[in-house]
This record gives sequence, structure tokens and C-alpha cells, in this order.
Amino acid sequence: MKILILNGPNLNLLGSREPDKYGKDTLKDIENFLRKEAEKLNVEIIFEQSNIEGELVTKIQQAKGICDGIVINPAAYTHTSIALRDSLLAVDIPAVEIHLSNIHKREEFRHVSMTAPACIGQITGFGKNSYKLGLIALYDYLLQNQK
Ligand code: DQA
Repeated sequence: MKILILNGPNLNLLGSREPDKYGKDTLKDIENFLRKEAEKLNVEIIFEQSNIEGELVTKIQQAKGICDGIVINPAAYTHTSIALRDSLLAVDIPAVEIHLSNIHKREEFRHVSMTAPACIGQITGFGKNSYKLGLIALYDYLLQNQK
């Protein structure tokens, strides 16, 4: 099983970026943490980040026929990007949206997700464990919905 872990804008700054909200781990720390979890499940992960909306769209498109699932933290594009939502729908690859912080506990503009309706579900507010929980939920879903 192969799963794309896709990270949106400013997540490359984790560690120094608003640590009170996003924790002290860098994105590399999160990647290493998730690789250990993936190994336990015998899942191969491709871990990517981009600050550019179109690049994220291209990465989703390129996952077609290669990845069985996508764990996505679209970051700020969560709240704005119809393009990301459409690309998730277009490739029809099961996806789980995740967030480090609880977006429903924050500013009102963060309560809306453009991308979540194109996903199986959303995990929000568990820090780096959101990535782990997202991976496990997706893994379980894929096992139960094997084509
Ligand atoms: C985030 C939440 C978003 O609202 C924000 O724009 C981010 C990070 C999170 O993981 O908590 O960049 O996706």
C-alpha cells in the first residue's frame, strides 16, 4: 500500500512557526515520526510539501494510479481552495484531511473547509498525532474497501 502525505503552505516553517498553535516539531520531525508508524503498518509513504497551490494540484493529479490514498494537510488552502477540492474529486483517491490545530476552535474563517467534502473524513486538533491518526484511519478504510 502506498500513501501520499501532502502538506500545504507554511508547513515547511513548523518548529519555529507559532509553536503555541502548531507545536515545536519541524516538518522533518513529523515525517520521521510518521515513517515509523507507516513501517509498523507496512505502508510506503511519499511525504511532500509545497507552498504553491498549483503544485499541490499537480501532486494530487500525479498520485493517480500510483497512490492508494492521500493524507492531506492543505493548511491555509483548506479554507479557500476549490482547485484542491476539485483535484481530490477528479482523481477519486480516498483522502483524509488533517490539521495540527483544531480549526473549529479558532477564527471563524478557519471553520470552513473547502477540501473536507472531497475527503472520507477530517482529523483536527491532535498535533502531530493528527498525521498518525489520519494514516491509521486511511489504512483501515483502504483495507475494508479493497477493490
Ligand atoms: C492548519 C490549520 C490552518 O487553518 C492553517 O492555515 C495552517 C495549519 C493546521 O494544521 O492546524 O496553516 O492546517
